[in-house]
Amino acid sequence: MSYNLLKGKKGIIFGALDSKSIAWKVAERAHEEGATFVLTNAPVALRLGSISDLAEKTGSQIIPADATSVMDLEHLIDESVKILGGKIDFVLHSIGMSVNVRRGNHYTHQDYNFTKKGWDVSALSFHRMMSVLYNKDVMSEWGSIIALTYMAAQRVFPDYNDMADNKAYLESIARSFGYYFGRDKKVRVNTISQSPTPTTAGSGVKGFDGFLHFADKMSPLGNATALECADYTITMFSDLTKKVTLQNLFHDGGFSNMGISTALMDEITMGNTAIENSKSDSKEEPKK
Ligand SMILES: NC(=O)c1ccc[n+]([C@@H]2O[C@H](COP(=O)([O-])OP(=O)(O)OC[C@H]3O[C@@H](n4cnc5c(N)ncnc54)[C@H](O)[C@@H]3O)[C@@H](O)[C@H]2O)c1
Repeated sequence: MSYNLLKGKKGIIFGALDSKSIAWKVAERAHEEGATFVLTNAPVALRLGSISDLAEKTGSQIIPADATSVMDLEHLIDESVKILGGKIDFVLHSIGMSVNVRRGNHYTHQDYNFTKKGWDVSALSFHRMMSVLYNKDVMSEWGSIIALTYMAAQRVFPDYNDMADNKAYLESIARSFGYYFGRDKKVRVNTISQSPTPTTAGSGVKGFDGFLHFADKMSPLGNATALECADYTITMFSDLTKKVTLQNLFHDGGFSNMGISTALMDEITMGNTAIENSKSDSKEEPKK
């Protein structure tokens, strides 16, 4: 269902790799809601992924940009303003990558060159992107900037590794830069903290399937899907949320306020009973 929420709005969407990407769903929904936008991703991702299918489907142009390069971002933003024919109303930062996670380095034994790279790509890129938008003065008044994050910024999820620290940094940038963007340009900046979602980045985390199940059972509304995240992001780009800024917005079916759910308690109790039964079975005297 579409509501024309973004009719006439212009945007830039970072991070659509393939049809599972959250950014891909945001692009599809933004198109349905009447927006025009430029798609961007790192040059290597453009070669590996299938973003040209998305560009064709949504009538968008693709401009490569490595989010760790100011030069690339300046080029992207200059070209986007030309292509879209004016200032930008919304920007999605949907970028994350940890080399330590990819290489299987434990949190307590990081390779700090990898740590720096992951931080540069996943967190500092948000500052860099906003700095270029701010200094070129290309955001429209009442525009909206969103980055995607995860609750490991607040609570311990061991296998999320150094991405937890990157997300904490990312969320802090949203508040700090959001202040200047709000005060000087009337632009809002927020992060959306999404449920675990089966995408390329998400599935890279060790034990992801088990964790997906755990989060789903813990959340009264169940895990939020990528499409549901896209729907929420669209409302944050629309004029219906003009005074929401400097927030970390949980989009997680209620997970972030839970302690324990009956569904998980039942699973734990069943698991304990099965363990007890197998212990008492193994203690039985062998039949003669
Ligand atoms: N999947 C989850 O469980 C989950 C949960 C909460 C938050 N998030 C966040 O959502 C965002 C999108 O991730 P996703 O799950 O859709 O996975 P994804 O793998 O589809 O997207 C990650 C994107 O980051 C891009 N990227 C990596 N390095 C880059 C660089 N140097 N320059 C520009 N782009 C670069 C990749 O090419 C890719 O398109 C990330 O910030 C992720 O941390 C994901």
